[in-house]
Amino acid sequence: MTRGLFAGVADSTPDPILSLMDRHRRDPRQNKLDLGVGVYRDSEGQTPVMGAVKAAERRLFDSQDSKAYVGLAGDPAFLDAFTGLALGADVPRDRMARIATPGGTGAVRQGLELVRRTRPQARVWLPDPTWPNHTAIAEAVGCDWRLYAHAVPGATTLDGDRMLADLAGMAPGDLLVLHGCCHNPTGLDPSATMWAEIAALCLRTGAVPFVDLAYLGLGDGLHTDAAGLRHLAESLPEMMLAMSGSKNFGLYRERVGMLAVLAETADHANRVQGALNTLNRLSYTFPPDHGARVAQMVLDDADLRMMWEQELAAMRARLDLLRSGLADALEAQGSADLGIRHGRGLFARLPLGTDRIAALQETHGLYIVGDGRINIAGLRAPDLGRVAAGLAAALR
Ligand code: LMR
Repeated sequence: MTRGLFAGVADSTPDPILSLMDRHRRDPRQNKLDLGVGVYRDSEGQTPVMGAVKAAERRLFDSQDSKAYVGLAGDPAFLDAFTGLALGADVPRDRMARIATPGGTGAVRQGLELVRRTRPQARVWLPDPTWPNHTAIAEAVGCDWRLYAHAVPGATTLDGDRMLADLAGMAPGDLLVLHGCCHNPTGLDPSATMWAEIAALCLRTGAVPFVDLAYLGLGDGLHTDAAGLRHLAESLPEMMLAMSGSKNFGLYRERVGMLAVLAETADHANRVQGALNTLNRLSYTFPPDHGARVAQMVLDDADLRMMWEQELAAMRARLDLLRSGLADALEAQGSADLGIRHGRGLFARLPLGTDRIAALQETHGLYIVGDGRINIAGLRAPDLGRVAAGLAAALR
């Protein structure tokens, strides 16, 4: 019998999204299409460095004269810039505690760690469906988590009645995980009325929303995309926000993220700040700075910000064009809308079983996540006809 320490390491379950990305990379076929991992792609299929980001990086290269440590919470100017971007100017900063994190994933992880340490009995409510890493992290942290109804595959709107009925079971101090905009994987977001009902339900039950905001600006625009979470922040005593700069700044590999906590009082916020600093110290000490600083420079410089907002608008316009192009092409094949036309952001979720998804990969080179999620940005206009024909046949 082997006595090696590592002989007992269990097999790992591969992440469904990242393992698909690897399989696509290894596929030698020319006509393969990666509709899997949630990265924005342009009409050439590339994920370019945004112009405003490049310009900020050049300035940073010229002006930065030290790489010395910053602080456990990260750069305060970045935290202010990201807070302002998501929440505007009105949310009282003295009731907030914030840390920079390695990407949105880091923010989700630290947020759940904080809740688990603070109130171990808190239940974490996750939408069904949700980003698979939400459930994986909740499980890894040891949270007691459960699902609430969001939308069935192929639906054109989220199922508000079932969602509210499920959430009526929330208890004080429970955590309600919401996608701020561009829901992953369905693309179906709450209406303004629905956001108001969610806020009212949180007030009534004492549950605390934890908003994951990874696609701000890629739905209907920076202001509209943030309206729901701003309503929560204005109406509720407590809330948490996990923010990512991966998609809207294209800073994927730089790992730009922030965890913000809105507490009931400034005194609570002070203590939460200490707890968050400790969580960073225990995990990696200082959060990464380069990407965060670049994003802050873009947000705080009028010219760079204008350039960035224009680039974001062009990304949105491309997503809209691809959504209506795919919906039209599917309709021409006799297929229903399936939430593609009016969904927001990168994703739509099609009612496809695993066999059909495997067949689409095999015969058409279409890489689709196992839950039926497609990344609209992975499409190219000239491919819409062939993709729609393959999908329509699989959906029949
Ligand atoms: C996605 O959902 O595809 C992205 O957020 C990438 C990831 O980390 O899963």
